[in-house]
Amino acid sequence: MKMSNRISGFQTSPIRRLVPFSREAEKKGTKVIHLNIGQPDIQTPREAIEAIQNYDRKIIEYGISEGDVELRRAMLNYYSKFGIKDISEDNIMITTGGSEALQFVFLTLCDPYDEFIIPEPYYTNVATFANVAMVKLKPVTSSSSNGFILPSIDAFEDKINKKTMGILLCSPNNPTGHIYTTEELEALLALCEKHDIFLVVDEVYREFCYDGKTFTSVLNFEKYQDRIICIDSFSKRFSMCGARVGAIVTKNMEFLENAMKMAQARLCPPNVEQVAAAAALNAPDEYIEGVVAEYERRRNVLVGALQKIEGVRINMPKGAFYFIADLPVDDAEKFALFMLRDFSYKGATVMFAPAEDFYWSSGLGKSQARFAYVLNEEDLLLAAECIKEGLKVYRKKVMHL
Ligand SMILES: Cc1ncc(COP(=O)(O)O)c(C=O)c1O
Repeated sequence: MKMSNRISGFQTSPIRRLVPFSREAEKKGTKVIHLNIGQPDIQTPREAIEAIQNYDRKIIEYGISEGDVELRRAMLNYYSKFGIKDISEDNIMITTGGSEALQFVFLTLCDPYDEFIIPEPYYTNVATFANVAMVKLKPVTSSSSNGFILPSIDAFEDKINKKTMGILLCSPNNPTGHIYTTEELEALLALCEKHDIFLVVDEVYREFCYDGKTFTSVLNFEKYQDRIICIDSFSKRFSMCGARVGAIVTKNMEFLENAMKMAQARLCPPNVEQVAAAAALNAPDEYIEGVVAEYERRRNVLVGALQKIEGVRINMPKGAFYFIADLPVDDAEKFALFMLRDFSYKGATVMFAPAEDFYWSSGLGKSQARFAYVLNEEDLLLAAECIKEGLKVYRKKVMHL
C-alpha cells in the first residue's frame, strides 16, 4: 500500500538501523558491545527510582500541558547553579524528552521550506525532525582536522537568507564532543541579532565537560534573551533516558504561547516520570560529579586505545560522551555491517554508528563513525581490541589491501 512521499524521503536512524543485525549476532551467542547509542549503564539517582516506587496517587491522570509546576520550580534552583538568573517556571515547558522539544522548535518557528543553519556533523535525529516540519537544514561544515571547532562566523552569515529562521547548536556537542566558548556564543548571538533570527542551543549534555573545561549556557546572555531557546533533557544527566522528560527554556513568551498549541494537542508530558525527574534534582552534587568523572575516565580509555590503532584518527573530545573517528575503511556503514554479521573476536563484536547521516552534505563522513563511550572500561577495552582485529580482517578480505 502507498505510504507518504514525505516518509519515504526520511532516513532510518544510523544509531538504530543495524539493530536487526546485532540481534542476529546476539542470537548466535556473540557479545555485542553497544557503542552506537548514548544509553549509559550508570545508575539513575536513587531519589528518582524511589519516587517511582513511592508513587501513591490512585489515578495516573493527565497533567497540565506545560508540565508539572513542582518540576518546573525545582528546575529553577538547578539552573541557578549555572548562573542562570531571572527565569521563572513560566519560562519552562516540559516536553517528552529533548526530542519533542526539538520538534516543537521547528514547528513553532518555521513554515515549510524555511531554513535552519546547523554545524555538521550534527545529532542525526535533527534531520528527521526538520523533515517532519519540512524545514531545510543549511549545514556549515566543521572538520575533524581542527577538532570540529566552530566554523567562522562568515561561514554562518553566508548561509543566511530571507528563509533563515535560526541557527541550531548543540553544546557540548553530540557527535563531536566540542564545547562552544562564551566568545563563540556571543559572536553567533550578535549575528542572530543582526539578521533577526533565533539561536537555539541544545544543552542536554551541559554537565559533561572534561579536562577542567568550563561550560557557558546560552541562557546566560540576557541581552539577547528574546532570540534564545534552550533545549534540555533529564535523559543523559540523570541516566534516565527511558523516562522521556525534557524541556524548552526561553524568555520569549510569544514562542512559548505558540508552542503551547502543540503541547496542548499532545495533552501532557509523562506524568510519573516528571515526579521522578523532580526527585532526581534532589540527588546530591556528588552524584553528577561522580558521573562526569566516570565518563572522563571512559573517554580516556576508549579514545586512548583506538588512537593506537594504525589509520584511526580521533581528536580528543572535550565534552558529551561521543566522538567521531576517522577509520581506514572505504565505507563505515559496510564496516559496521561486517562487524555485526561476519566478525567476532574473543566471542565479542562492536556496534557503532556510521557517521554519514550525521552530515547533511552528501559525500561527507563516509569513512567516519560515531562512538559513544557510555559503557564500563572492561567492555571499552574489549571493544577497541575488536575494532583493531576487525579492521585487519575487513581491510584484507573486503578491501583487498
Ligand atoms: C544532542 C541531543 N539532543 C537531544 C537528544 C534527545 O534526547 P531525549 O529525547 O532522550 O531527551 C539526544 C539524545 O541522544 C541528543 O544526543
